[in-house]
Parts: sequence; C-alpha cells; structure tokens
Amino acid sequence: MNIPKSVEIIEVSPRDGLQNEPKPISTEQKKELISRLANLGFSRIEATSFVHPKWVPQMADAEEIANFCNGLGITFIALTPNIKAVQRAIEVKVPQIAVFIGASAAFNKKNINKTTDESLDECEEIFKKAKEHDIFVRAYVSMAFTCPYQGEVTFEEVQHVCQRFVDLAADEIVIADTNGYANPRMVYDRFSRLRDLYPTAVFAGHFHDTRRMALVNTLAAMQVGIDKFDSSMGGLGGCPYSPGALGNAATEDLLLMLEEMGVETGLSYDQVKEVSPFAKSLSTRATYPGV
Ligand code: HMG
Ligand code: MG
Repeated sequence: MNIPKSVEIIEVSPRDGLQNEPKPISTEQKKELISRLANLGFSRIEATSFVHPKWVPQMADAEEIANFCNGLGITFIALTPNIKAVQRAIEVKVPQIAVFIGASAAFNKKNINKTTDESLDECEEIFKKAKEHDIFVRAYVSMAFTCPYQGEVTFEEVQHVCQRFVDLAADEIVIADTNGYANPRMVYDRFSRLRDLYPTAVFAGHFHDTRRMALVNTLAAMQVGIDKFDSSMGGLGGCPYSPGALGNAATEDLLLMLEEMGVETGLSYDQVKEVSPFAKSLSTRATYPGV
C-alpha cells in the first residue's frame, strides 16, 4: 500500500468544532479545551476565527483566545477571511492565519459575502501583509468537490483557486470537502491532478463526515502522498453556511486508524481518546459515536 510513513494531524475542534454551536460556549471552556489539546502534543491547533461576531457569534472572543494560546506557547492557526481580520490577527501575534475561499462562487458569497474572484483579489493584500509579519499562510479551498448551493463543482473551479494560492506562495493549501459529499474516487482523482500540476505545493485534506466517508477519503488522499489532515476531537464541527454538513473527521478515529496502520503521528490514541468526552460535552449536537 502506498501511504506516507508519518502524518501530521491538525486539530480544529476549538474553531471548526465549536463555531456552529447554537448555545454560547464560554471563553473559559474553550481555554480548557485548548489546554487539554496542547497537552496531547498536537503540532498545530486551529484555535479561533477573526470573523464578524454577527456572522459567527461563537468566535467573538478571538483576541482573548489568541492571547491565551500565545501564553501557552503553542503553534496555532486562526481564520482570517479579509484584511480587517488579518489586522486583528497581527495585533495579537497570531503565528499562522488561514484564508478560506469557496471553489463554488455561490458558497463563497454566502460565507464571506464576496464572489470567489473578489476574495482571491483581496488575498493579494492579505498574503502581502502576512509575509511582512512573518506569518504562515494556510489557504483553504472550500467546497472543493460539490456544493449545496450550486451542485457540481468542477476540477477547473478548484484549480482556479489553487493556481492563485500557488502564485501567492501559500505555505499550505487545504483541499476541503466542506459539506462532506466527496467520495474516495473523487478525492484520489482531484488530489492526484493537483499534485501533478503543483508538485512543490504543500497540500492538506479537510474532510467533513456528513456521509461517514471522512476516513476513507483521508485514506484515498494518503495514497496520493498527502500527509497533513485536519480533524476534530469527537467529530465536532460544521460551517454555519454549509447547511446539513456534519462535523470533521473525528480525531480519535483518524488516530486509531493511523496507529493501527503503523503511521507515525507523534500522538497517542490512548491519551487522545481521554479528551474526546470533554470536547463532546461542549456540543449540544449529537456527535459521532466514535470507536
Ligand atoms: P461583510 O458584512 O461583508 O463585511 O462581512 P464588510 O466588509 O461589508 O463590513 C461590514 C462591517 O463589518 C464593518 O463594520 C466592518 O468593519 C466589519 P461597520 O463599519 O459596519 O461597523 N468587519 C469586521 N468585523 C470584525 N471582523 C472582521 C470584519 N470584517 C468586516 N473580520 C465577513 C464580511 C468576511 C466579515 C463576514 O462575511 C464573515 O465574518 N464571514 C465569516 C463566515 C465564517 O466564519 N464561516 C465559517 C468559517 S469557514 C469554514 O468553516 C470552512 C472551513 O472549515 C473549511 C471547509 O470546511 O471548507 C474553513
Ligand atoms: Mg470545515
């Protein structure tokens, strides 16, 4: 089997996992989750979003969370959809930012109130500002397989966004199945074509588990050599502008699969699974039962 020797798991529960929760989660509870995750040894944690609190109320405490993460000394990622967000992130010394742009223009408009091309144009300034401050830029291609608003998403639409990210020298490009409707064949095909087109780009996978295919999709991407994956403790997650989507691949399930396959992650399944109940306790939604 053609799979990488080691895989980086990027834990996204404090951000993707909690952003769409209908009941307010206190900043103290978020800090507790981040502390527990930090103790498990994740190389990177996606901690918060500098978005508008009217659009995503759950992320209104982004500055306080960023200050807390800096106090812990961890490498963390924060979402920044526009230049105002980047300015907020710079003020609190965020080490890694993430832009997120829909390959589907219909989704992008719903999610960040701009067309895909308008958002890509804004990226010029975002990337420039980030580089000036030595900030790592992660760049998501959202709805990279299908879209609840426009249906089919073509490979050309995905490539259009990727090409711009490559031209802007993104440090990492995350191909995201935002609504969780990809299947392993699509994943293998799209990642293979992107790898061939951009052999030196660093790619990561971000799979939502709506139809319980997040793990098999991960495996399909691993067979193309992809070795960075986002996942969320307890399978929490969902985007408020991706109706019907369930959470991300559950970290504990992903880790169990990788551990059993002998793939190194630097994490321990036994330790990680102990933290999952706390993460789930923050959610009001029925979450993935896990293993
Ligand atoms: P907008 O309303 O178009 O913004 O929102 P605007 O530029 O027209 O400005 C309107 C007001 O908002 C102004 O204030 C701005 O200053 C303020 P006023 O002058 O009226 O007082 N404003 C901001 N305030 C705080 N932070 C900001 C900001 N920007 C403008 N950053 C905006 C545009 C992007 C802000 C809005 O659409 C937004 O916040 N969207 C976020 C949506 C979101 O967070 N979605 C979930 C994350 S994406 C996701 O989950 C997918 C992912 O997991 C990968 C995958 O699965 O695909 C990453
Ligand atoms: Mg997501």
